Formats: sequence, C-alpha cells, structure tokens
Amino acid sequence: MTQDLFRELPPELTLENLVEGAVVLRQFAVSEAEQLLTDIQQVSAKAPFRHMKTPGGHTMSVAMSCCGDQGWVTDSRGYRYQPEDPVSGLPWPTMPESLRTLAMKAADAAGFVGFDPDACLINRYPPGAKMGLHQDRDEQDFSHPIVSVSLGLPVVFQFGGLKRNERPLRVPLAHGDVVVWGGPARLRYHGVLTLKAGTHALTGDYRYNLTFRRAC
Ligand code: SIN
Ligand code: FE2
Repeated sequence: MTQDLFRELPPELTLENLVEGAVVLRQFAVSEAEQLLTDIQQVSAKAPFRHMKTPGGHTMSVAMSCCGDQGWVTDSRGYRYQPEDPVSGLPWPTMPESLRTLAMKAADAAGFVGFDPDACLINRYPPGAKMGLHQDRDEQDFSHPIVSVSLGLPVVFQFGGLKRNERPLRVPLAHGDVVVWGGPARLRYHGVLTLKAGTHALTGDYRYNLTFRRAC
C-alpha cells in the first residue's frame, strides 16, 4: 500500500490490515447492497442455489451459485472451474455489472489495482451452515487477489496461515464488509464459523457471500 494510493481513498474508508496482503474494508458495499441482492436473485433464477458434494462425498451446508465466464464446482471428480453450470448444461449467467464494478473498486482500494474478475461464486448460508478452513487454489494465476463481500447476517470469518495448522485470526464480518487478500496472503487458509440464526432486514434468515476471482 503506497502513501499516494492511501491519500486517494475516501476519508470515511477504514482499511483494516489483517496480515500483509489482507485487508478488511468495513461497510464498503453497504450503499450498493440492495442492488447486489437484486442481482443475486436474478443470477439464482437462472443458476439456482444448490448444495454441492465434496470429492469425499459430503454435502456442503452452504448453497452455491455462480456467475461470470467461469464457475466453481465440486463433485466426485474434484474441485474445478468450468464455463457451464452442471445442473443446466448452460453457460453460467453473465456477471452483473454492479458486482464486477464493486469487486474492481474494492481490489483497487486494497492496493490490487487492475483486478478484473471472471468468476463470482455466490454462497448462501442458512443458520447452522459453516465453511471449514481451506485455501482458494483452483485458479490458474495466484497473482490475482480474492475479493470477498459479506451481505446479511453477521458471521465470524477465520483467517489463518499458509499451513492448515496455524491458528486463525477471528474476524467478525457484518453486512457490507469486504475482505481482500492477495500477494503474500493469497494462499492463506480461511473459512467461516457456524452461522447463528437471526433475521436481517435485507436477507431474512441468510448470510450471502460473494467471492470474486480471476480463474483463468
Ligand atoms: C469462501 O471462502 O469461499 C467463503 C468465505 C465467506 O463466506 O466469507
Ligand atoms: Fe475460500
């Protein structure tokens, strides 16, 4: 993060450093949240949320959909990106402009200028759902960051080390918070703890998470 870039940020933006290469942009997506949720509804009308199976045969507690040129899938054959939705056989829905623009702005604000995502994974967490510690490593080029947007119910995000056994930081994430990690932090383990039941004015019983990646 250079001083020059820092000076260009709007004064209300708080940039919270987790570790080198990883920042939380508190409330960064709040003003656009309703548009984002409308766009999520439109994507999921074409590519409905589904509970995918891990290669080990476990059904994920998180329901997923995708948009963009590439979508992330898991099944008995493994984890991968592919251009079609395996449920419909059709290309994934186009990434809505509001989503793409937000991801690019967040990456810029975090110091990863020029990020242009080709994949957006949409996670929908019902109460009781969680995501175990994992690395995002199915992408071709790890020089691109990950941009992760939280909407709806709050949750505790875990941000760990480059090895699974390193004790993770616990980072509470609320509606509108955006986490960006890349560079030396790109392959850090991360996950979310079990979602507690609650009600959010815009998302009801759910938490949504958008993760933007450059897959190819
Ligand atoms: C993920 O790592 O894919 C999801 C993280 C989150 O839900 O905040
Ligand atoms: Fe991830």
